[in-house]
Amino acid sequence: MKTLFRICSIVLFFGLSFLLDCAYPAGEIPLYKDAGRTVDERVADLLSRMTLEEKILQLNQYILGENSNVNNIGEVSDTFIPGIGSYIYFNDNAVLRNSLQRRELEVSRLGIPLLFGFDVIHGFRTIFPIPLAQACSWNPELVGQACAVAAQEARMSGVEWVFSPMIDVARDGRWGRVAEGYGEDPYATSVFAVAAVGGYQGSDLSSPRSVAACLKHFVGYGLSQGGRDYEATDVSPQALWDTYLPPYEAGVCAGAATVMSAFNDINGTPAAANHYLLTEVLKEKWDFGGFVVADWNAVEQLISQGVAADKKEAAYKAFAAGVDMDMKDFCYKDHLGALVAEGKIPVARIDEAVANILALKFRLGLFEQPYAVELPEDERILLPYNKELATKMAEESMVLLKNDNGLLPLCAKTVAVIGPMADNQEHMLGSWTAHGRVEDVEGSIYDNLQKEFGKKMDFLYAAGCGFDGDDRSGFAEARAIAEQADVLILCLGEKNAWSGENASRSTLALPAIQEALLQDVKKVGKPIVLVLFNGRPLELCRIEPLCDAIVEVWQPGIMGGKALAGILSGRINPSGKLSITFPLTTGQVPIYYNTRQSARPFQGKYQDIPTEPLYAFGHGLSYTTFEYGDLYLPKDTIRKNEKLRLEIQVTNAGNFDGKETVHWFVSDPTCSISRPVKELKFFEKQFIEAGTCRTFYFELIPERDLSFVNAQGERFLETGTYYVMVKDKKIKLELID
Ligand code: GLC
Repeated sequence: MKTLFRICSIVLFFGLSFLLDCAYPAGEIPLYKDAGRTVDERVADLLSRMTLEEKILQLNQYILGENSNVNNIGEVSDTFIPGIGSYIYFNDNAVLRNSLQRRELEVSRLGIPLLFGFDVIHGFRTIFPIPLAQACSWNPELVGQACAVAAQEARMSGVEWVFSPMIDVARDGRWGRVAEGYGEDPYATSVFAVAAVGGYQGSDLSSPRSVAACLKHFVGYGLSQGGRDYEATDVSPQALWDTYLPPYEAGVCAGAATVMSAFNDINGTPAAANHYLLTEVLKEKWDFGGFVVADWNAVEQLISQGVAADKKEAAYKAFAAGVDMDMKDFCYKDHLGALVAEGKIPVARIDEAVANILALKFRLGLFEQPYAVELPEDERILLPYNKELATKMAEESMVLLKNDNGLLPLCAKTVAVIGPMADNQEHMLGSWTAHGRVEDVEGSIYDNLQKEFGKKMDFLYAAGCGFDGDDRSGFAEARAIAEQADVLILCLGEKNAWSGENASRSTLALPAIQEALLQDVKKVGKPIVLVLFNGRPLELCRIEPLCDAIVEVWQPGIMGGKALAGILSGRINPSGKLSITFPLTTGQVPIYYNTRQSARPFQGKYQDIPTEPLYAFGHGLSYTTFEYGDLYLPKDTIRKNEKLRLEIQVTNAGNFDGKETVHWFVSDPTCSISRPVKELKFFEKQFIEAGTCRTFYFELIPERDLSFVNAQGERFLETGTYYVMVKDKKIKLELID
C-alpha cells in the first residue's frame, strides 16, 4: 500500500513537477536536491528525471574491496560500474569507499550517491559474542546497545547498510548458521529482532552513528533439510505463520529499512521467486515500505533451483516476485531492459523498486552527505565504551550449565588450564567476524585467569590436543599438569569456520580427540570445569558425566576471556540461560521446547536413549539460589478485551547478588488448531540483591498473548481455558467473550 501510494504520488508529482519545473527559473536546484522536501517528493521528482537504464542500474549491487569472507569465495574487486545502486564494501575504512563515491558523483548525470553495505552480524571491529550467545543474555536492551556500537563503527568506516539482524528461527544445530540467529523461539527472536533494528537504525538514519538494517533471510532458511546449508525447505503454512514469519513481522513493524530474501526453496518455490511471501505477505499484508535485496547470487541460483532456464528468466521471476535489488550476479543489469521492452515487466514495477531504494538513500542523508568522515582508527573503533559493552555482553551471554558441589566460583591453589581453547584467541571470535582481528582479542582464557587471580592462584597450561585429528602426543603433558593441580579447567570447542555459512556438520559432538583428552585427564581424579567455546548446541552426553561444572561461553568475542575469568572467579555471577535446546544426542534433532502435542505423550519415546534433551530451552544456573513464589493473578476469568497483570515473586535466597530472567509461557490445551505445548510470551531480567526479593509482572493482553494465527495468517482469539506458566508453576485462566 505504502509503495502504491508512492507510485501514485510519483504520477501526481510527475505531472505537478513538470508544471512546477516550468515555474522554476533555469539553474534553480532541482526539487529532489532540496532537503527541505519530503522523501516521497524527492523520490518522485528524481524518478521522473531518470532514464530506464539509470533506473535499472540502481537495482544492482556489486562488490568493492577485498572479500575476506571465507564463505563467499574471497575475491578482490575494484570494478567501477557507473550508475550502479550499491556495493558490498569489504574494506574497514572510508577512504576507498569515498574515492568510489566521488568518482560516481563526478559521472552520475543526476548525482545519485552509491549505497555501501556489509555483513555486520555481531560487531564491525569490536566483535561481540555471536547472536546465539547474545540471546542467552535475555537482555534486549544490551543487544540493542551492541548493535548501536556496531552501527557507529560501521557508519564511521564507510558502511551505511548492514545485512543484519539474522532472524531465522533455527532448531537444527547441524546447520552452521544457527550461530547467527537468536535460537529456537519465535517470540524471543522477535524481541531481539526489534532490539537489533532499533540499535542499528537509531532515531535518524542520517546520523553518523546509524545504519540501515536488513532482516534476513526471508524466510524459513533454518529448516534446510538435514541441517545442510542452501538445501530446500518444507515448511507447513501453519508453521510458516506461527514460527518463521513472526520475527520478520516484528522487524518490519520496528521499521527495518530492508529485507534480504533467502536462498532456500520454500515448498517448491525458491524464496527469491516467491511472490506470495515477498509481495503478498511482506509488501502488501505487512505494508513493508523498504526494499528487498536478494542474497548473494540468489537470483541466478534460480537456475540451479530449477525454476529458470537462464539469467533472463531468473531476472524476470525474481523481479516479478518482489526482489528489488540483485546482489552480485547482474541478472537485473543485463536483462531487465529487454524484459521491459518485451512488455513482460511494467515500468511501474521498475519505478516501485527504484523508488524504494532511492527513498533509503534520501533517508540515510547520502544526497546531502555522500562521504563518510575519514576519521583515524582510534576515533571510531574499539573505543573504551565499545569494549566495556562487549565485556558486559559476554558476561551476560555465558551460561552456567552445571555446577555440582558448588565447584565454581574457583577456590583452589593450583589450576590446570587444558585444551585447544585454553590459550587460543582466534576462535573466540566466531563466524562472520566482519573486521574483527585476532590481535583485538584481549587475551585467552589462560591469560585472563592469571590477570584475574594474580598471585592468589597458580595456573598451569597445556593444550593437550588440537581441535580435531588424532594426535594424542599432548595428552601426557596435560596429564602431568593435571597431577599437579587441584582443579582442571578443560577448554574445548569449535573453530570459527565450523559454524556460520556453508558450515554444516553431521554431528553436534565435539571431535573425538577432544572427548578423548577429557576422558584421559579425568583419570587423574581431580574436579573438572568444562568450558565450551562453540557456535551451535553440542552433543555432550559422553562428557557431561565427567565434569563437575560446565560453562557455555559460546564464541564470546574480543572480551570473552575477561568475562569468563570474571565468572570463574565469582566477580560476575552468571545469568545466561539457553535460547536453544541442547539435545542429549544428535539423533534427537530437531528437538525444541515448543512442539505441538503428541498423539500419545507417554509413548513413542526412543527405545535406545532418553527422549528428553540434556539441557532444555531456558536452562541456566546461578551462583545463588532464586526461589520462586506462587503465580498470582487478580482474577481467573477475563474477557477478550480485558488485560490481566500477573505476578510472581522471586527471592534471592543465596549469598551472591545476581540477575534472574523470568520466562512467561502460555498454553492453550484445546483450540481449533493444535498449538505448541507451551509458547513463550514474555520475559524479563532483573537484578536481585542477595537476601531480597523482586516481583516480576506479566501484563497479559488476550489479543496479543492468547491468540493464534492460522495457516492463512489470520489471527484468532478463542474463549476457553488457558494456562500461564513460569518454571514449574502453572495457573489456569478462563477467557470469555
Ligand atoms: C551470503 C549470506 C548473507 C550475506 C550475503 C552478503 O551468502 O547468505 O547472509 O549477507 O551473502 O555477504
